[in-house]
Amino acid sequence: MNRIFSGIQPSGNLHLGNYLGAIRNWVSLQESFESIYCLVDLHALTMPQDPDELRGNVREVTAGLIAAGIDPERCIIFCQSAVPAHSELAWLLGCLTPLGWLNRMTQFKDKAGDQRDSAGLGLYAYPVLMAADILLYKATHVPVGEDQKQHLELARGIAGAFNRHYGIDFFPLPEPQIFGAATRVMSLRDGRAKMSKSDRSDYSRINLTDDAETIALKIRKARTDPDPLPGTPEGLEGRPEAANLIGIYAALAETTQKAVCAKFEGAMFSSFKSELADLAVSVLGPLGAEMKRLVSEPAYIEGVLQRGSERAAEIARHNLSQVHTVMGLMRE
Ligand code: AMP
Ligand code: TRP
Repeated sequence: MNRIFSGIQPSGNLHLGNYLGAIRNWVSLQESFESIYCLVDLHALTMPQDPDELRGNVREVTAGLIAAGIDPERCIIFCQSAVPAHSELAWLLGCLTPLGWLNRMTQFKDKAGDQRDSAGLGLYAYPVLMAADILLYKATHVPVGEDQKQHLELARGIAGAFNRHYGIDFFPLPEPQIFGAATRVMSLRDGRAKMSKSDRSDYSRINLTDDAETIALKIRKARTDPDPLPGTPEGLEGRPEAANLIGIYAALAETTQKAVCAKFEGAMFSSFKSELADLAVSVLGPLGAEMKRLVSEPAYIEGVLQRGSERAAEIARHNLSQVHTVMGLMRE
């Protein structure tokens, strides 16, 4: 049986990168897989958080997922901290994870920077918790953006280590599902940096809650180069900002970069940007409006999360109890 698991951090400012790189794919996957989507607030704690904001962000991101088309009846949508088995399995798997594997994780290196000694243990153990998220449900497929590929490799490594160590075919090795078009959306201010919710400049990203005017303004102000658009994707080499905008257009229009280049060959950015803005508003406008409507209905969102965590906990309890048996722990 195939089962999808994926997680998203509830850190506010859901943006176009999250939508094109993750959420939109989750929406289509729910058609063919049993799907579990998790608001990973424990992962969010690896960076400083304001408690009220964190709780608010869980609700906001949940609203975003539902507004984007994830059906809470068909899928399980829940919050990580509501199912304590995640933390417990993270400990158990941590005991089987060599430090050498964690030392290779580029996200830790990027986030800790030269502050390695003051970085928290949580930031370091982040990928082990992520492995626990996935393996707790024996998920077979994990849709993530490019940036999470290394963490997923680690999760496969840990699953393999467990199976080998106990001589049992227990955890399936989860397959990454990295999607083709625009899996990596770049900042509108710098074509070499990822679009990110933590970027200081709000002009670097299009938030899913931005209204039509804001979306159009941000696209108009997006950094470009002085040349007209090329007729083929090869002509985008060395032009990261142009490549990013074409990639965004292609992803939003659900077509290829090749087709977009052919359509806009020789056009100046000013006219391309105005078409891109119209397209972005037509896709994101309704989504943002629905998201705001749902945020104003906290009781509904709470209900979705409550039901989701009950369904998740049932699967988690069953699998964790088997892990206890395999590892020689006392069962309750
Ligand atoms: P995060 O916001 O880092 O919790 O990421 C949530 C999901 O969105 C993950 O699957 C990421 O890989 C994806 N994601 C985040 N930023 C981008 C981006 N700029 N481009 C594409 N995917 C992204
Ligand atoms: N680390 C992922 C990110 O930042 C979020 C995440 C946590 C996740 N647990 C997961 C993704 C399990 C997939 C599966 O995007």
